[in-house]
Amino acid sequence: MIALGCDHGGYNLITAVKKYLDEKGIAYKDFGTYSDESVDYPIYAYKVATAVASGDFELGILCCGTGIGISMAANKVKGIRAAVVGNAFGAEMTRRHNHANILCMGGRVTSEEDAVKFTDIFLNTPEEGGRHDKRVAMVTAHDNLSDRVL
Ligand code: RB5
Repeated sequence: MIALGCDHGGYNLITAVKKYLDEKGIAYKDFGTYSDESVDYPIYAYKVATAVASGDFELGILCCGTGIGISMAANKVKGIRAAVVGNAFGAEMTRRHNHANILCMGGRVTSEEDAVKFTDIFLNTPEEGGRHDKRVAMVTAHDNLSDRVL
């Protein structure tokens, strides 16, 4: 199950992503917003990030105007690795090497066609593990300052 969210700046992209998920028969929950009326992106970042961090959702997708603000907000939630993606290589590598659990994209910088392409890659690329497990664990350790390794 995939958790989806956006603000008004990413509403076009999340709509295109939902069409792709419907066509592929991939289950999702849309946490809003549900129109292109102006809203505050941290609200939707928090809804999706807490849903993914709870373990009830495998992965999340968040869209705002640039993908940046909504990723910054999502990354405040413990256990979240939200990555802003603007190219196909990044969509693949952030799953393989960073074990990203939320894909973030921007409706004002990425086309709907590319957003669907990046979504397809992100959802179909596994975590590579191995040496990356250690590095991801080092990032995750920052969730708890007492666990710091740097
Ligand atoms: C909203 O105007 C815009 O600031 C937002 O969608 C996003 O791009 C923030 O990073």
